[in-house]
Amino acid sequence: MGKPIGIFDSGIGGTSIWKEIVKLLPHEDTVYLADSANAPYGAKSNEEILRLCIKNTELLLQKNCKLIVVACNTATTNAVDYLRTNYDVPFIGIEPAIKPAALQTKTKKVGVLATKGTLASTLFHSTSKMFTEGITVLEQEGTGLVELIEGGQMHAAETRALLKRYLDPMLEQQIDCLVLGCTHYPYLVPLIKELVPPAVRVIDSGEAVARQTRAVLEKHNLEEEPKSSIDHWFYSNTKSDILASLVSGPSVSVEYLDF
Ligand code: DGL
Repeated sequence: MGKPIGIFDSGIGGTSIWKEIVKLLPHEDTVYLADSANAPYGAKSNEEILRLCIKNTELLLQKNCKLIVVACNTATTNAVDYLRTNYDVPFIGIEPAIKPAALQTKTKKVGVLATKGTLASTLFHSTSKMFTEGITVLEQEGTGLVELIEGGQMHAAETRALLKRYLDPMLEQQIDCLVLGCTHYPYLVPLIKELVPPAVRVIDSGEAVARQTRAVLEKHNLEEEPKSSIDHWFYSNTKSDILASLVSGPSVSVEYLDF
């Protein structure tokens, strides 16, 4: 068996990225770490987020991963530079999809829903500045949403009410693109579609991350040959059925691991 792709997130959100990766790279084995015991990362200090990212990276390297996808905007914007400098494997990061939103907006107003940790990061601000000349970016912290999703409340009335509170002010300002700057949020798309007019584009980075993963594997000659049996290992440090409900399938195993 070849080496797997490693993926980590503060919890189950990065499975939205994992789904895009396996769609595009069906011959690759994967190892996914859901650090749910430490979710949410978004409210933590930069030092604390970095410490958690190092812990996750070391475990994925122990599991022989050839490339690591940091499937978390908060972790990427706070730690990916450090990880790239200090470890030999390639890292793929994820950042809010500001560029496609800036290219598509007609009202010149773009909303970004993300965690406090992402919105406060230097990397988010430098990327945002690079692509948004003449465009107003309305930033909204999604406080509480990660916890609701981790608790499986993707369709709950409480989640809908909180989302409405966050989205309405941006809609009043005439945004026509809404960037989902957290990998947990694609699980809220059914609710978001109920709350925003059809003319508002909802944009996430999942597909782009999968394409970038493929490009980097190719560049480093790390792609797996087609093979008959694939394995996807999921490890979570909390005992909950939600992760298993999101990733079930024949080659999937979900286990509790204290990390
Ligand atoms: N999925 C993480 C992200 O993309 C959630 C961060 C958190 O745990 O607050 O930012």
